[in-house]
Amino acid sequence: MNVLVTGGAGYIGSTLIKQLLEKEHKVVSIDNLSRGDYKFLMKYKENPRLKLLIGDIRDPDKLKAVIKENKDVGAIVHFAAIPGMERCQKNPKGAALTNIYGTYNVLETARNYDIKVVFISSAAVYGNPIEVPISENHSTNPTNLYGVTKLAGEKLLSAYHSSYKLNTVALRFGNVYGFGVYSHWETVIPKFTKQALSEQPLTIYGNGEQSRDFIHVWDIIQAIELVLEGEKNLVAGETFNVGTGKPISVNTIANMVTKIFYEECKKNVKTTHLPPRKGEPDTPNFCLSPIKIKNKLEFRPQWDIKSGIKQLIRYS
Ligand SMILES: NC(=O)c1ccc[n+]([C@@H]2O[C@H](COP(=O)([O-])OP(=O)(O)OC[C@H]3O[C@@H](n4cnc5c(N)ncnc54)[C@H](O)[C@@H]3O)[C@@H](O)[C@H]2O)c1
Repeated sequence: MNVLVTGGAGYIGSTLIKQLLEKEHKVVSIDNLSRGDYKFLMKYKENPRLKLLIGDIRDPDKLKAVIKENKDVGAIVHFAAIPGMERCQKNPKGAALTNIYGTYNVLETARNYDIKVVFISSAAVYGNPIEVPISENHSTNPTNLYGVTKLAGEKLLSAYHSSYKLNTVALRFGNVYGFGVYSHWETVIPKFTKQALSEQPLTIYGNGEQSRDFIHVWDIIQAIELVLEGEKNLVAGETFNVGTGKPISVNTIANMVTKIFYEECKKNVKTTHLPPRKGEPDTPNFCLSPIKIKNKLEFRPQWDIKSGIKQLIRYS
């Protein structure tokens, strides 16, 4: 298959590209390089099955031209976004234009050429849940702009599925960590690992009892591959959580990083608390039910957090 990856220079996008190339697929990537960097894919740049393009999903003509030049594209995996609560709060116009208008452009292009779209959404659409583990049927009530833009993207997707019968799938990721072809260092697990490595205290927002569903980037890639390969009757119009179903508090992560860091580097680190961040869900036991993707697509996460932290320490 030829897969168009939007945001292919990003953390998760570039990891997917590596995997698709290793599975003999063709890949076209479009990224405006506002955050990502193609340097992590340079090892593959001579591969005739790979095209790394610079372009913006806010530009519908560019998207159209990419598809016209690559008529065999069979699916679009749409990552390109202003990701995360803080980035969206700092740049609300950018968040709306990229995450909502950009997603509309991707869908409109896909509609014109009848291409399957896999939209990368987030657990942020749920906000503070009423019931855990959170199933896909749980109400959506995002507590910040990022979650709102992801929910808007999902709503656009369902409209294109119901109105135009476009084959669309939305994936709601938990908190992604681990080394793919590279790692960002801002989310909890990589941030604590980096702080430990630079012998700084681990900074916890609030009391640290808030939980997240942490999922390794290579498990995320498995889920995307299953959705790409999934029969139309199993995936079209569907939304899947991609998580572990196991809530882990920020305090637990801090303790794990401290312990593993001592085992690996024989050094102690301290923790420090900062005020809670506005808009961040503070639910203890926050986790996504992975039952639907496990039952329908046989998703089987392979990574545990301990191995993921060790991997980050060794690759840093
Ligand atoms: N990392 C996580 O924990 C996590 C969790 C849930 C959902 N997600 C979603 O997964 C996707 C990828 O996340 P990531 O962590 O790899 O982020 P990332 O920032 O590394 O990747 C996003 C890429 O999109 C590109 N981009 C941004 N605006 C663009 C535009 N207008 N046109 C073209 N390219 C543009 C950036 O340059 C970047 O390379 C995002 O949609 C994010 O919201 C991530």
